[in-house]
Amino acid sequence: MFLKIFSFILIFVTIADSKVIELKCNPNFDVQSIVNLPYRCINGLSCFFENINVDENTNLVLNYDEANYGLDCVGFINSTISILPSNLFNKYCAVSSLYASGIGLKFLPQNTFENATNMLDMNLSGNKLKKLESRVFSPCKGLKKLVLSHNEIDEIDMDAFDHLDGLEDLDLSNNKLTNIPHKALAQLKNLRTLNLGNNTLIVRYGQFPSSLVSLDLSYNKLENFTLKSIISLTNIKYLYLNGNRIYRFRQHIFPDGILEALKSLKHIQLSDNEFYCTTLADIVIWLEKYKIHIDVEPHWMIINSSNIRGVGCKEESRFFL
Ligand SMILES: *[C@@H]1O[C@H](CO)[C@@H](O)[C@H](O)[C@H]1NC(C)=O
Ligand SMILES: *[C@@H]1O[C@H](CO)[C@@H](O)[C@H](O)[C@H]1NC(C)=O
Ligand SMILES: *[C@@H]1O[C@H](CO)[C@@H](O)[C@H](O)[C@H]1NC(C)=O
Ligand SMILES: *[C@@H]1O[C@H](CO)[C@@H](O)[C@H](O)[C@H]1NC(C)=O
Ligand SMILES: *[C@@H]1O[C@H](CO)[C@@H](O)[C@H](O)[C@H]1NC(C)=O
Ligand SMILES: *[C@@H]1O[C@H](CO)[C@@H](O)[C@H](O)[C@H]1NC(C)=O
Repeated sequence: MFLKIFSFILIFVTIADSKVIELKCNPNFDVQSIVNLPYRCINGLSCFFENINVDENTNLVLNYDEANYGLDCVGFINSTISILPSNLFNKYCAVSSLYASGIGLKFLPQNTFENATNMLDMNLSGNKLKKLESRVFSPCKGLKKLVLSHNEIDEIDMDAFDHLDGLEDLDLSNNKLTNIPHKALAQLKNLRTLNLGNNTLIVRYGQFPSSLVSLDLSYNKLENFTLKSIISLTNIKYLYLNGNRIYRFRQHIFPDGILEALKSLKHIQLSDNEFYCTTLADIVIWLEKYKIHIDVEPHWMIINSSNIRGVGCKEESRFFL
């Protein structure tokens, strides 16, 4: 009896604490003021929510506007909200583009995109997301591009990306990822571009789908990386390994025969690692024999100290093999 009363009071307090705010978006927002906005937002029918600043105890409810029924693009600008309005895609179910970057989002509850079945691209970068829940994106079966960079993601459920068979481009760079469950990425059978730069990833065998054309593993503190761990990536053309702590011999990183397996590989970035110059020379000689281009972006190019083809290296003081 006591317990029952207690839980009743708790629920009551929670309800009394949360505020409900009704929202309306601006269909005349000047979308040209946002850089990199998808084509659909510029040329289609779009509506932007502006200047909403609420804490997580506020329940945002959309004020339905008939005129916006067929919206292509919905966005948030100059706002701070920790959670998307609960009925957003219930109201605007035709939306194919979501722009929700830099608005302090903390949570993506499992049912967030339940009614967002027409979504093609989402930009959720620069938020405070920590975890990607099981099947959170699964209703968006046609999703092609998903940007989750610059969040605080350190946990991805192995089912988070289930049913995203059309996903081509996934950006998870600049998060706090160490472990990503095998299934989460491996099942994305049409993924072409995967950016995992600026995390602290542990790369595991069979973790990436073989459809990948571009894989960015830069700035991950990788030390013992070997291309053996990505042997199934028969379509990989661009590989970014710059900004790690790689120093091992050519035979460890690029074992003999590996390029027969990774037959599409054409470009590789190796700058800003821990190579000794003789080790790097072996690698360069070997890669050039197979006509693989060693790319160096201008800001990584070193010309005023020890380098090979602009990739910096350490001169060893004694004979080193
Ligand atoms: C996502 O939005 C941010 C902030 O506007 C922008 O800098 C970034 O280029 C966008 N990303 C993509 C892939 O469109
Ligand atoms: C952005 O929001 C802040 C705080 O709510 C407000 O003071 C400011 O005028 C807004 N800026 C624009 C460009 O709407
Ligand atoms: C999705 O739509 C259904 C039917 O309109 C509704 O019952 C449900 O609450 C909606 N879900 C969300 C998360 O808005
Ligand atoms: C990683 O962070 C560095 C430094 O902030 C930045 O220059 C680089 O572009 C980032 N890399 C990626 C893939 O985002
Ligand atoms: C790399 O391998 C060395 C030697 O086996 C080990 O001591 C080190 O912890 C490894 N580094 C990482 C980041 O796993
Ligand atoms: C060499 O060049 C880099 C970048 O151009 C610069 O940051 C660095 O200070 C230079 N070092 C010396 C010793 O001049």
